[in-house]
Amino acid sequence: MPTLLLNRKDISGLLTMPDTLKVVEHAFRDWAQGNGKMPPKAYLVLERGDFRAMPAALPGAAGVKWVNVHPQNPSQGLPTVMAIIIYNDPATGYPLAVMDATQITAYRTGAAAAIAAKYLARPDSHTLGIIGAGQQAHTQLMAHLELFKFRQIKVFDLSSAAVAKLIDSFPGYPIRESSLAETAASDIVCTVTPSRVPVLKKEWVLPGTHINAIGADAKGKEELEPSILKEAMVVVDDLTQASAAGEINVPVSKGLFSVDEIYATLGEIIIGQKPGRKDQKAITVFDSTGVAIEDVAMAKLIYNKAKQAGNYLTVNLIEE
Ligand SMILES: NC(=O)c1ccc[n+]([C@@H]2O[C@H](COP(=O)([O-])OP(=O)(O)OC[C@H]3O[C@@H](n4cnc5c(N)ncnc54)[C@H](O)[C@@H]3O)[C@@H](O)[C@H]2O)c1
Repeated sequence: MPTLLLNRKDISGLLTMPDTLKVVEHAFRDWAQGNGKMPPKAYLVLERGDFRAMPAALPGAAGVKWVNVHPQNPSQGLPTVMAIIIYNDPATGYPLAVMDATQITAYRTGAAAAIAAKYLARPDSHTLGIIGAGQQAHTQLMAHLELFKFRQIKVFDLSSAAVAKLIDSFPGYPIRESSLAETAASDIVCTVTPSRVPVLKKEWVLPGTHINAIGADAKGKEELEPSILKEAMVVVDDLTQASAAGEINVPVSKGLFSVDEIYATLGEIIIGQKPGRKDQKAITVFDSTGVAIEDVAMAKLIYNKAKQAGNYLTVNLIEE
């Protein structure tokens, strides 16, 4: 049996944000209903960056993503985050596909945040603030634009060139470079930096804001002042991962926030086990670490699409 090999160009042609939003929400629903398996990701930390191994299984699908985060890469013309997925038949273990997952990672991360905003942000949210204008910021914006109609989109980055690139990628939208404080004063705020010191200050955050805390996905990273978490309804993608490596990891390790203060998982909110925001004034935070069920669900979608199209490269990896 051949194994499909899908490179970046193949994935580009097979990936859409509307599909990603559907598949990622469905994956969270499946998993919250007990129809998935996912051990916490394993980290391999090196001097200039880290690697994560992310295995998971969902009904009819299994696989593992191998992904790096090397924040200095853009200065060498490489993305900070690159990934591949090995997608297997859960019944036999056969490797059905090996695919580039760099864009899949960015799309599914954007989708998870927009889905969190769909359940947690005020329905009348009409301003979006993006802090950090790198690779992930593009798909954060793309995903939120599918679900919300914004009158104003504000972007802050330490690099104005990164902001200009993001703005140029979304012609025709009301998007502009702003100060950090102005960007923070938005209905929905996405933080997408690799920062290890809080960038988002409590004094800037307005009542009723929803924050997608995306950047902190490894031990020692943090983007939000812990006082924001103390006041907010904190929703995580995965309890174990968030406590060890998500936005709450530093405050938890310093005793400034306790895991008992987490309000819910995103899956619990999606299946209605816990209600979403309690009132118009609540501050809600989605602490995203990135979960392997998102990747495996996406791999299944991409594999099925590619198999149906039938014109992609295959190799006999296992058999003679
Ligand atoms: N939660 C998830 O599922 C998930 C998935 C992928 C990536 N990430 C994380 O998201 C972060 C961003 O990833 P990326 O691929 O966009 O990286 P990137 O290098 O492409 O972009 C990061 C941007 O943040 C900017 N920046 C750095 N420090 C800043 C600060 N203090 N204030 C404002 N801007 C700042 C940089 O100038 C850069 O433009 C990383 O920490 C990565 O590990 C999380």
